[in-house]
Amino acid sequence: MSPTPKPGLLEVSLYVGGRASVPGMDKVIKLSSNESPIGPSPKAMEALHAAAHDLELYPDGSTRKLREAIGEVHGLNPDQIVAGGEGSGPLLTMLANAYLQPGDEVVISRHAFQVYEIVTRANSAVPVIVPERTTNSAIKMDVEAMLAALTPKTRMVFVANPNNPTGSVLNREEMARLHAGLPKDVLLVIDAAYAEYVTAKDYEAGIELVTRNDNVVMTRTFSKLYGLAGLRLGWLYAPAAICDVLNRIRGPFNTSTLQQQVGAAAVRDRDHFWKAVAHNSKWLPWITEEIRKTGLRVDDSAANFVLIHFPKGEKNAQAADAFLMRHGVILRGVASYGLPDCLRMTVGTEEQNRLAVSLIQQFMAA
Ligand SMILES: Cc1ncc(COP(=O)(O)O)c(C=O)c1O
Repeated sequence: MSPTPKPGLLEVSLYVGGRASVPGMDKVIKLSSNESPIGPSPKAMEALHAAAHDLELYPDGSTRKLREAIGEVHGLNPDQIVAGGEGSGPLLTMLANAYLQPGDEVVISRHAFQVYEIVTRANSAVPVIVPERTTNSAIKMDVEAMLAALTPKTRMVFVANPNNPTGSVLNREEMARLHAGLPKDVLLVIDAAYAEYVTAKDYEAGIELVTRNDNVVMTRTFSKLYGLAGLRLGWLYAPAAICDVLNRIRGPFNTSTLQQQVGAAAVRDRDHFWKAVAHNSKWLPWITEEIRKTGLRVDDSAANFVLIHFPKGEKNAQAADAFLMRHGVILRGVASYGLPDCLRMTVGTEEQNRLAVSLIQQFMAA
């Protein structure tokens, strides 16, 4: 006899993050993990140095100042915010731990962020995978198909908006339609990790839906636009009753002093925020158009990355990946997301973008 994990746990596939190195190469360009090319706010860095003096003391277990800073910037009640000290991923874990029971069903779109399936199976619940709709320039969540997948066993629906790795987005009306079709006891989790990048006027990150309903949660992260992936900090906005549940089960000091102070300074620095948005808004369309000129399909993206489709045969995604790697540029293979013919490229600095695009052009022309 040996210790036995809960049913479903061994069906979890290991999460493999974006590669960070190329064997034998010291200097690489990493466009594989949707990190910020701008880096963090200088004010956040100042806060980091200042906070380093208090490390003998426990942090504020309620994360009050960070929640107040987020609340002030987004116009939210800080009591309806819960922060998470290991990024936004563990907030999804906490939600699944709190609301899923063995055998419950969770609706997830086919090419969604892998963590949703992991946290579902970790609770012996059942992921119900729904195909997206594919058009000439997008792989997009299919609201009607997701609603059709509901059964009396459905307890949760995960939606990344914008979605990773497709970059597609549901607009306000589509998300509202999805929510309107859910029974009141089904929790809609909107993972808005890339919300800060979206410039479309008809986008709503989830704040309105959470404010008006008892069964919606929105998660956010400091890892993407705020350039703080190494800090590991996320937060969520949820109805008070859900925050109450999460506050009971979270670690009592689940964010560190450094995370709290750096996060508060980062969210308050709106100049840096707009600089990062402007950079993305300039280079995302440029990358999309330049790669399209090679004849490759590049999907419309609302986030800080693009999904590039390669043909089968000689110029396939694996060959492109290997070619770029030989030149020190790392994109993200997304076969584990069910997209073996695609690579995902993060928006980098101007120099990185120009180099990656010219390598793709060379690869296609060769
Ligand atoms: C859709 C989505 N959600 C959440 C995350 C997790 O971000 P973090 O755990 O760094 O906050 C990512 C990171 O890649 C993501 O793509």
